Amino acid sequence: MLKGEHLTKSFGGLRAVSSLDFEIQEGEIVGLIGPNGSGKTTLFNLISGFYRPDEGRLFFKEKEITGKPPYIIAQMGIGRTFQIVRPLPDFTLLENVRIAVLYGRHGIRDVKEATGKAEEILEVSELADKMHQYPLNLALEDRKRLEIARALAINPELLLLDEVFAGLNEKEIEKAVAFTFEIKRRFNLTIFMVEHVMKAIMGACDRIIVLHHGAKIAEGAPEEVAHHPEVVSAYLGKGYVARL
Ligand SMILES: Nc1ncnc2c1ncn2[C@@H]1O[C@H](COP(=O)(O)OP(=O)(O)O)[C@@H](O)[C@H]1O
Ligand SMILES: [Mg+2]
Repeated sequence: MLKGEHLTKSFGGLRAVSSLDFEIQEGEIVGLIGPNGSGKTTLFNLISGFYRPDEGRLFFKEKEITGKPPYIIAQMGIGRTFQIVRPLPDFTLLENVRIAVLYGRHGIRDVKEATGKAEEILEVSELADKMHQYPLNLALEDRKRLEIARALAINPELLLLDEVFAGLNEKEIEKAVAFTFEIKRRFNLTIFMVEHVMKAIMGACDRIIVLHHGAKIAEGAPEEVAHHPEVVSAYLGKGYVARL
């Protein structure tokens, strides 16, 4: 469904993403992990058209999307969240999501119909009871949920989730994993997600890609990747693996 070939993006002398090759198959949930600054968000910015790669190419459903602007990529079916949430502050949650529905790929132009769709998405995102509130009044967890709701509202086929589960306890991790499966099923999604909560990543993902200094150092099933020597030394640490 998504393919990157030799993707490279530098900021000054820093290669944030470095000759990266990867593929995501339709229907997969793929995790993207790596230390802070390893290029995860930059990769999402390349895929969603916010940055243009210096080198390399990107394909979505066999069509080349390299260098296309964000609104075209969104229209083609790639939705994303932002690590730093950015709702429209002067609009209620319902209005935030409804605007995304109207500008998205549903083909809905009728405000009443768009309202219904927005309500459904807020319901799934467990924000229905807060739909008339304003984003800045929300706790971080709910703002992250709103970010997901807005991404879902464009009706994507591929959803990029950038650290949407902030600071979770054990019980919340289980809920987060269940939530990921639920939106995948309900909206028929392929998901590519960045997450630091390893338990959530391990529980949710079919496959994990590991970045370090912008390059892929490992890829495979969660169990395999969690025991990969380079992943342990670059990211997880020996203590983590001992607890698995
Ligand atoms: N717009 C930018 N300008 C300059 N440097 C950037 C920019 N975006 C990211 N970087 C740098 O690129 C590297 C990768 O960042 P990022 O992709 O945000 O990492 P991650 O999401 O894995 O924590 C970091 O060193 C970061 O400081
Ligand atoms: Mg990031």
